[in-house]
Amino acid sequence: MTSKLDRMKQLREQALAGGGPERVAAQHKQGKLTARERLGLLLDEGSFVEFDRYVEHQCDKFGMGSKKIPGDGVVTGHGTIEGRPTFVFSQDFTVWGGSLGAAHAQKICKVMDQALKVGVPVIGLSDSGGARIQEGVAALGGYADIFLRNTLASGVVPQLSAVMGPCAGGAVYSPAITDFIAMVEGTSYMFVTGPNVVKTVTHEQVTSEDLGGATVHASKSGVAHFTAPSDADVLALLRRLFSYLPLNNREDPPRRKNGDDPAREAPELDLLVPENPNKPYDIHQVIRAVVDEGDFLEVHDKYARNLVVGFARIDGRPVGIVANQPAHLAGVLDIDASLKGARFVRFCDCFNLPLVVFEDVPGFLPGVAQEHGGIIKHGAKLLYAFCEATVPKITVITRKAYGGAYDVMNSKHVRGDLNLAWPTAECAVMGAAGAVEIIFNRQIQAAADPKAEKDKLTAEYLERFANPYEAARKGFIDDVIEPRATRRHLARALALLRTKRDENPPKKHGNLPL
Ligand code: HXC
Repeated sequence: MTSKLDRMKQLREQALAGGGPERVAAQHKQGKLTARERLGLLLDEGSFVEFDRYVEHQCDKFGMGSKKIPGDGVVTGHGTIEGRPTFVFSQDFTVWGGSLGAAHAQKICKVMDQALKVGVPVIGLSDSGGARIQEGVAALGGYADIFLRNTLASGVVPQLSAVMGPCAGGAVYSPAITDFIAMVEGTSYMFVTGPNVVKTVTHEQVTSEDLGGATVHASKSGVAHFTAPSDADVLALLRRLFSYLPLNNREDPPRRKNGDDPAREAPELDLLVPENPNKPYDIHQVIRAVVDEGDFLEVHDKYARNLVVGFARIDGRPVGIVANQPAHLAGVLDIDASLKGARFVRFCDCFNLPLVVFEDVPGFLPGVAQEHGGIIKHGAKLLYAFCEATVPKITVITRKAYGGAYDVMNSKHVRGDLNLAWPTAECAVMGAAGAVEIIFNRQIQAAADPKAEKDKLTAEYLERFANPYEAARKGFIDDVIEPRATRRHLARALALLRTKRDENPPKKHGNLPL
């Protein structure tokens, strides 16, 4: 018996050693943790249960038959985060550069299959040179097996990805199908084709960092939702993100009571919106004043900053916040903001997170670049997302609700459950100056003093439309509230809407304007 136990221990130690001390040291030298160290930080202490530590590849080409490392370059299993379960996989760069062969892929598929059956999220930590070259098409098939499972699990269990090293070639498409991607600054990169191929095909010279580093994907492409300076910071961020999410699409997100009084007033909000409609203010001030303990986990904070999205709690209940940002491009909706908002709204709707919208939007961004770039189809995505969402939907108009953007931003007409306005709200087809020039052009030109006439008409227009009461008279706004009392109104509405049930007509799936 002793010798059998010894054998088991010996095999376990082999698996724990990964690619060996030299490669582990090289990993550390780059500022990266090993696959197991990462799981140690991601999961509650002592909660990790490993699967498949003895799995080996079956490849006998290119001398691989004599090279086997138990575990085959990926550590898989399950554990808990703040006591709640999750399945995990963590690629081990010290074993053939974390490259993915058939056995490696099968291990990942096994945890994904289990996660779908049990109704528990999957968190994947990528650090891989991509398809294992020696295994050829078997490796490609392994990727496709994963992509299929990513797609089937989409909207059923949350899927979170951290990119913590290389992620190149088709390998990028697994994280891309998941709900959120976090990248480590300086040590991770993602691209479909690397700098060498780029140079050959387009003659562009670019480094890995400039082509697909964390900064690029967080600010330009929008591929990454979060970045953090180190492995440990990214893993802490994933734990925080996880705390807002239900385990699956049939559960409500976990309520976490805290000491923040749901009726707490925020007097500073009464004076926040400037008199001059062209002056900006920071919508973060509104969000932080209203949510529990000012705690807001912003998603995509460096991308399309004219729209702010992220997670917070109100009276302990997780919510998804979507807010126009007057401090950036006047809060206008453009292509990037529409894409960012649509994806976030759809995520919240998949996973039963109520939507809280703060609206101050002058409209869609005009211009040739926007029209030719497809603002019509991209703006339609945001509209579609709000229309199809059946979770509790609350809107607070803080200032401008102009034009098509009034409709889009969770208006009453697209099934907003509670639509509130601050007294500073302006619901109109467009701003006063533009509107008066269009509808009173002849009258202004014919006047003895056109400027005085225009000013007079503008003042009349402002009096009539630059307020929330025209919309309130029609029932499009349920109430006009004191800004300081916003938190109380939201907390009460969220408590009421907890039991909301709404359905879309039965269909295979809608045809989102992609
Ligand atoms: C097999 C690989 C490998 C791979 C790395 N290794 N990538 N082995 N298949 N794809 C091995 C190396 O041989 C080396 O083994 C060890 O991992 C560490 O790699 P290094 O090159 O020494 O490390 P580093 O200098 O840090 O460079 C990392 C790297 C580089 C940039 C990722 O290894 C690289 O360019 N790899 C190839 C990337 C690639 O083109 N992959 C295919 C993408 S296409 P030893 O034994 O020496 O330590 C793809 C298609 C997927 O993935 C399609 C899905 C649809």
